[in-house]
Amino acid sequence: MKSQALRETATTLFADNKGLLAMDESTPTCNKRFASLGIPQTVEARRAYRELIVTTQGLGNCIGGAILYDETIRQHKKDGTPFVKVLIEAGIIPGIKVDMGAKELAGHPGEKVTEGLDGLRDRLAEYSRMGARFAKWRAVIAIGDGLPSWGCIEANAHALARYAALCQEAGLVPIVEPEILMDGDHTLERCSEVTDEVLRTVFSELFAQRVMLEGMILKPNMVLPGAACTKQATVEEVADATLSCFLRAVPAAVPAIAFLSGGQSPELASARLNAMNARFKSRLPWALAFSFARAIQQPAMELWKGQEENVSVAQQALYHRAHCNQAARRGEYNAGMER
Ligand code: 13P
Repeated sequence: MKSQALRETATTLFADNKGLLAMDESTPTCNKRFASLGIPQTVEARRAYRELIVTTQGLGNCIGGAILYDETIRQHKKDGTPFVKVLIEAGIIPGIKVDMGAKELAGHPGEKVTEGLDGLRDRLAEYSRMGARFAKWRAVIAIGDGLPSWGCIEANAHALARYAALCQEAGLVPIVEPEILMDGDHTLERCSEVTDEVLRTVFSELFAQRVMLEGMILKPNMVLPGAACTKQATVEEVADATLSCFLRAVPAAVPAIAFLSGGQSPELASARLNAMNARFKSRLPWALAFSFARAIQQPAMELWKGQEENVSVAQQALYHRAHCNQAARRGEYNAGMER
């Protein structure tokens, strides 16, 4: 019964070329983004911003699931309606970030391991009672001189697998997110090499922990040159590098791959996802989708600026990005959509 429900949730999230909206910024991350735009860093400002997102008209046509944060899943609209209820009525499945953040990995300078396994079983049960049907855990891997180390890859992959098994036990679909950061001057080839090694390790750990691949989602980085690399790649080169890596490393039983945006501009993230689907869709075993935070939200947050009178124009910008990414899933996005 549980495995059937997990499969169904994993598939429903991505039906009709929809994708996920990550709105699970932790309080410090959300405050940092607000601060850079001069928005007050208060509970009420964060609540108002999340109300703007969840009440965007028609969002459920392009977004199948929204990832919430502990603060957000407990919040309400000004009129008292819980956000979870608003999302469900809009046809958007609520999910929840359950990791406790990436912390310094002992003995590994410059590397991090994501924490949050202690007490996770109880927290998952609570979130499930609150209406969450899927969860997210993000591991971060840095590329640098001698990095990543095997110890860092292994520790993060193991934690992801332990988390994923606990989610499935609780009836929640785990989003497994091993993010290789764009920071640095590494090449596209180096990112491909590291992504390949990380994915193979993650799937080996998922197998060891008996995670049912049909009832999980992979949320990876695209294969990209580092942001400071002097040789940047074309959209087509990114699509080809990403898919040749994923076709080797991601088992066909996984229902969907939903990319993070990782600091790419919203337009580039859409264009790259589009190129992947346009060039490869007919021969991919998994849906190729999106689970963007910044690449969907950033333009809306910049327009909103914390002002009530900007809510409507910000919602239009949010919807526009969601709509562009839905088109990219079909391979039908083009720059003309941005005008
Ligand atoms: P970005 O799309 O901004 O990378 O965020 C995705 C996410 O959920 C990070 O965990």
